[in-house]
Amino acid sequence: MSLDQYFTLGRSGLRVSRLSLGTMTFGENWGWGAAADTARTMFDRYLDAGGNFIDTADLYTEGSSESLLGQFIEQSGTRDRVVLATKFTYNGQPGNPNAGGNGRKNIMRAVEASLRRLRTDYIDLYLLHTWDRVTPAEEVVRTFDDLVRAGKIRYAGLSDVPAWYAARAQTFAEAHALTPLINMQLEYSLAERHIEHEYVPLSQNLGMGITAWSPLAMGMLSGKYKPSQTGGEGEGRLAKVTSAPGFERFTERNWTIVAELEKVAKEAGQSMAAVALNWVATQPGIASVIIGATKLEQLDANLAALSFQLPAVLRARLDAVSATDKPFPYYMFADIQQTRIHGGVAVGDKPAGYAPGVFVPAVQAQSFTTSR
Ligand SMILES: NC(=O)c1ccc[n+]([C@@H]2O[C@H](COP(=O)([O-])OP(=O)(O)OC[C@H]3O[C@@H](n4cnc5c(N)ncnc54)[C@H](OP(=O)(O)O)[C@@H]3O)[C@@H](O)[C@H]2O)c1
Repeated sequence: MSLDQYFTLGRSGLRVSRLSLGTMTFGENWGWGAAADTARTMFDRYLDAGGNFIDTADLYTEGSSESLLGQFIEQSGTRDRVVLATKFTYNGQPGNPNAGGNGRKNIMRAVEASLRRLRTDYIDLYLLHTWDRVTPAEEVVRTFDDLVRAGKIRYAGLSDVPAWYAARAQTFAEAHALTPLINMQLEYSLAERHIEHEYVPLSQNLGMGITAWSPLAMGMLSGKYKPSQTGGEGEGRLAKVTSAPGFERFTERNWTIVAELEKVAKEAGQSMAAVALNWVATQPGIASVIIGATKLEQLDANLAALSFQLPAVLRARLDAVSATDKPFPYYMFADIQQTRIHGGVAVGDKPAGYAPGVFVPAVQAQSFTTSR
């Protein structure tokens, strides 16, 4: 499937590509990004491939990701075509608690700063970046609604929040006919599958499409790192920032996944990166996979991720090697239900297209309606 097939994001009329271009690597301020000319080449390549969905944040490379993107979009005259997503939460003025977090005051500050850097007068998808643990969900939703009415943003969503918080926000929006949340941006890859228990059913039932970040576990799943005495070695971000919190990917579990992925990719005749991305893109609830790159060759390898179908036997091997334990209460929702709750009558046997209800697989099937 190519990038110029567009799908509606969550319960909305916004049409996006199934691979989104992540721009956390646009700019060199963090020591592991791409210089402006390489970033521009990658931007052009993504659009040439038919992609329309680009992700940034005010945080990325201390604002230079947004600034570069603003320049590229302006120079290429693509503002109408691009679905531009950015995020707020991170603090813009050390010492000032209201210049960070998710309160109304910071959201209003952040949106103006992002609009200036992005050289535009509207953002297509505005996301809360990370839960600040203090701001009520109602305050965030009301502010999103005001921004939509003011014409500064078109759609809203959440990233990196607890599932209960997202459910409260969406329910409040629905109850008060405020702008709904159409997207959850969450970490998801063969190395990080925790969203499957809570967030995937949440997003499917409440109309939010999931966009998956760090789908290669920050490069780990490309296969270019090898275990070493210090944890791992190789050329790239993970070798440069080994000890920073949030960057720990050199684990025993991940080396085991990488070893199996290498064999599977060889049998599929594809690169490890393409197979890992293909697996994410075709998992339930995933609306779009946010791909990242620092080099054009990497982007090209990643753009090939939708060009093949992974045979079921190979997919099953990846599922098995990366499986996680079902935490409470999810282990209770399995086989035992069939007899002890449903009296031996099968659930999940409604015909395709049956009216949506609490039956999750039917809702899953509907979450990727094509807009064609
Ligand atoms: N909401 C959030 O909290 C959050 C958090 C993180 C990211 N994001 C978004 O998600 C996007 C993607 O995240 P990510 O960059 O961490 O994704 P990723 O796909 O897990 O990692 C991308 C990195 O892996 C390496 N790589 C990529 N393709 C490769 C290939 N084919 N062969 C070898 N190495 C390859 C490159 O780094 P090196 O060249 O340095 O190895 C590249 O920058 C970001 O740009 C951002 O938009 C959101």
